[in-house]
Amino acid sequence: MSHHSDPAPRKLTVRAFAEMKTRGIPITVLTCSDFLFARILEEEGVDMILVGDSLGQVVLGYDSTIPVTLDEMIHHARAVRRGAPGLFLVMDLPFLTYQVSNEDALRNAGRALKEAGVEAVKLEGGHPTACDRVRALVQAGIPVMGHLGFVPQSVHTLGGHRVQGRGPGSADRLREEARALEEAGCFAIVLELVPGAVADEISASVSVPTIGIGAGAGCDGQVLVLQDMLGLNPDFTPRFLRRYAELASATREGVRGYLRDVRNRSYPGPEHTFGEEA
Ligand code: KIV
Repeated sequence: MSHHSDPAPRKLTVRAFAEMKTRGIPITVLTCSDFLFARILEEEGVDMILVGDSLGQVVLGYDSTIPVTLDEMIHHARAVRRGAPGLFLVMDLPFLTYQVSNEDALRNAGRALKEAGVEAVKLEGGHPTACDRVRALVQAGIPVMGHLGFVPQSVHTLGGHRVQGRGPGSADRLREEARALEEAGCFAIVLELVPGAVADEISASVSVPTIGIGAGAGCDGQVLVLQDMLGLNPDFTPRFLRRYAELASATREGVRGYLRDVRNRSYPGPEHTFGEEA
């Protein structure tokens, strides 16, 4: 449903997200990487867009997020910004744009704000070095979203796409990292592939909103990768994913129809053809 006739809603802020948590209002987040989808997400009233570095896989065809560059992220974030001028945008800082030093993190996050016009950045991990980066960015006035559990930029260290935080030691570490990220100043924390009970506990123990993906219903908000939830990649069928559309088969049908009609000359028809007169 389109909201064209509604008055333009106000762009949400980090304070609004905190208040949504306090009031128990679920925060809706989707990833996005291009103009037309961004326009739809804004018209449909999603609370926040994440320009995730998963675009490396779902848009650019890499086999992980590791090859994604800052320039690629900014290129896509600019398109999303143009499509959704009224939404709060978070851009992932890709691999090796924040791991080396606070100065790197600051310069690269600064580029995201200045060149793409996003409101915030996201970085992965909750160890002391990651928290140090968060503090440096927040002190410079850049809102930061954290990301714990399965952190895709560390896929090789973690040994694949696996649920994290299983077992007491591992769950305790996740809880401590969430508290450390909150203390460092994150305005929200993504929890990815975490047992539901652990995500529930973390969500109850930090004051900032948790945004879950494969982390159960107890998180303060949910995020999915847009192309996955729209069924553009039907081979990707993790347990946590619900598909809300079947765009791969719809696209195939459309392409087949076009090929058929061009080949049998039923397209273009007279109604698609210009006359000599204006
Ligand atoms: O890159 C991404 O899309 C993400 C979400 C899955 C949280 O980080």
